[in-house]
Amino acid sequence: MSFPERFSKLPEYAFPRLRRLLDSHAPGGEVIQMTIGEPRHAFPPWVAQVVADHASEFGKYPPNEGTPELRQAMADWVARRYGVTLDPDTQIMGLNGTREGLFNAAVALCPEAKTGRTPAVLTPNPFYQVYAVAALSVGAEPVYVPATAETGFLPDYAALPPEVLDRTTIAYLCSPANPQGAVASREYWADLVALAEKHDFRIFADECYSEIYRDTPPPGALEVATARGADPERLLIFHSLSKRSNLPGLRAGFVAGGPRSIAAVKQLRAYSGAPVPLPLQRAAEMVWAEEVHVEQNRALYHRKYDIADRVFAGVEGCGAPQAGFFLWLPVADGEEAALTLWRETGVRVLPGAYLSREVDGENPGRSYIRVAMITDNEDELQRGLESIRDCLMS
Ligand SMILES: Cc1ncc(COP(=O)(O)O)c(C=O)c1O
Repeated sequence: MSFPERFSKLPEYAFPRLRRLLDSHAPGGEVIQMTIGEPRHAFPPWVAQVVADHASEFGKYPPNEGTPELRQAMADWVARRYGVTLDPDTQIMGLNGTREGLFNAAVALCPEAKTGRTPAVLTPNPFYQVYAVAALSVGAEPVYVPATAETGFLPDYAALPPEVLDRTTIAYLCSPANPQGAVASREYWADLVALAEKHDFRIFADECYSEIYRDTPPPGALEVATARGADPERLLIFHSLSKRSNLPGLRAGFVAGGPRSIAAVKQLRAYSGAPVPLPLQRAAEMVWAEEVHVEQNRALYHRKYDIADRVFAGVEGCGAPQAGFFLWLPVADGEEAALTLWRETGVRVLPGAYLSREVDGENPGRSYIRVAMITDNEDELQRGLESIRDCLMS
């Protein structure tokens, strides 16, 4: 029996790898989970009632691209948040969470070759792992571009050789970034759009952390590209209710972009996709339309940022991020640090290297740990962060 070569070099997924690293050792104290980015704040309580009210619609196949009402609610949200008007019929579609969209859009839109050569797909390094799998699935070369302290924790795509940029078909960019919490400025997005125009590639903007920030809403790729008068086909944006509304289990996100690109994604998903069940689409529609719970959620994250800032005051390179809910903390060796922390304190964090790839002998995540500030218990958060500081930073 044969297996495909193209995935043979994929590292083991981060969480089984972490279990292998830690689980043969006993925790050194109260177990505090800070590994997975699964929000634990409450989701709006009325969501369950909306699902119940529409339960009979579990008896129907759901529309692939989302109901007209859901697409309208998502387009209204984009208009409120970014001041850009999208046609809900042609420029936006519901997704079963952004992860499948980030994958399927590459399958739908990455050409087989560019200028007669293997396409390149650019991804920040470290990165959300689906970007690399999408690239490999379409026979493209994933190009891992360091997003380190030296580059403001965002990739410097413009520094790539023109030979790579000329065969680039897609550049993924996550802002606010997982894991570093960096936010792409308007200038960053404008420069990236200009680079994409010069070398004729698409940008896939993964913005699922856009609603979790300190004071200023992170600028959106769409508002910048629209203000520049860019071709709408140049950019796809991906958004989700997972972080904004603490509904990772609802599996509700969307992709928006140019009508031709969206038509291609719709068509592919009509054949192979798993649309969101109708009662959940009804709930998602209501959740996109409501901002009060989003503001309350953000207020809880502000309190967490304050706790992190206080705990790490004076510790070089540490403290809360600009946005998102991860801390990306410098240590000597991320794996060693995660193991020591677990054995000495019971706090579980993710080694940075599990989110990044080694290129030319360098792994930009190796000397970091990622700490997810997801617990809904502030005392527990404080204890966890203090353990990290006292065990690893002193
Ligand atoms: C950077 C990033 N993009 C996309 C996703 C996918 O989220 P979902 O599929 O729940 O929308 C996640 C989830 O953790 C993420 O961290």
